[in-house]
Amino acid sequence: MSPYRSRRWLTLAALALSGCGGPFPQSTLAPASGYAREIDGLFGTVFKLMMLVFVVVEVLLLYTIFRHRHRPGAAEPRHTHGHTILEIAWTIAPALILVFVAVPTIQTIFKTQAPPPAGALKIQVIAHQWWWEYKYPDLGVVTANELHVPLARTVDLEMTSADVIHSFWAPRLFGKRDVIPGHTNHIVFAADSTGEYLGQCVEFCGASHANMRLRVLVDSDTAFTAWAASQVRAPRAPAKNSVEQRGQDAFRRYGCTGCHTVAGVAAGIIGPNLTHVGSRTTIAGGMLPSAAAMIEKWIENPQAVKPGALMPRMGVKPEDLTALVAYLQSLK
Ligand code: CUA
Repeated sequence: MSPYRSRRWLTLAALALSGCGGPFPQSTLAPASGYAREIDGLFGTVFKLMMLVFVVVEVLLLYTIFRHRHRPGAAEPRHTHGHTILEIAWTIAPALILVFVAVPTIQTIFKTQAPPPAGALKIQVIAHQWWWEYKYPDLGVVTANELHVPLARTVDLEMTSADVIHSFWAPRLFGKRDVIPGHTNHIVFAADSTGEYLGQCVEFCGASHANMRLRVLVDSDTAFTAWAASQVRAPRAPAKNSVEQRGQDAFRRYGCTGCHTVAGVAAGIIGPNLTHVGSRTTIAGGMLPSAAAMIEKWIENPQAVKPGALMPRMGVKPEDLTALVAYLQSLK
């Protein structure tokens, strides 16, 4: 083999193997909850059956090709019409295979759609074009895009939409579920390791469907309790004459208050609640990391980041922008 060709094979092999290495931020094959393991197990069962069918069919095919290949001088093969036993067999065999697929599938559907046990943590998920709102009615917490859940505790997501149909999916934690206006759907799951799990909207919901991301943050019990406590506290008021104070003035002056809630400052309900936006790791529906330059970029031209977003360009002056960003970052 020429050095060029062997290098090409090596590159191909490396590419193929790199698919096996991880990490798997959005793979159903790396389950991190009981729910996701049910789905993964079902996939394994169906995959093994498929492999069995594949091997049987290929062996028969290769045997037939070899056995009945054309040989010089050979007579024409015998023609047959109809074979009752064979026909019954190849009707029953696929039906049986489908039964072997259907039984575990239906079992999994029932297991993953079971009603939540008593004591499950209730979280309301409200889909918007294009961000996710989360409300914890028992804790008094309202947040957006980053869903915090405690480790190993069953969570009951009560999901509905404020506008069109969306679909909620964090592949390592649970299956897809449509989020429908005027209807409540549930996802019940318990995460079994801490960390950050990525997800996204998986139902086409308009221009920025692809920009409707989400994060599920699985916290240890103590971290979750601390997070929830910090989320219900009112944010610290800016010090007099500070840059944050000027930012808060700008927040009012530019009319941000019309769409956003900041506890004690504004009560808008069109956009995400910003009371603790400074404690989130991302902004703009998970599109941008929550860094000063990114918040500036977002405020200056939301349409450039998320086409079709309801957030308008407010024409914030540069000196106000710096103060506004400092204020938003101080909301922890
Ligand atoms: Cu929301 Cu797609």
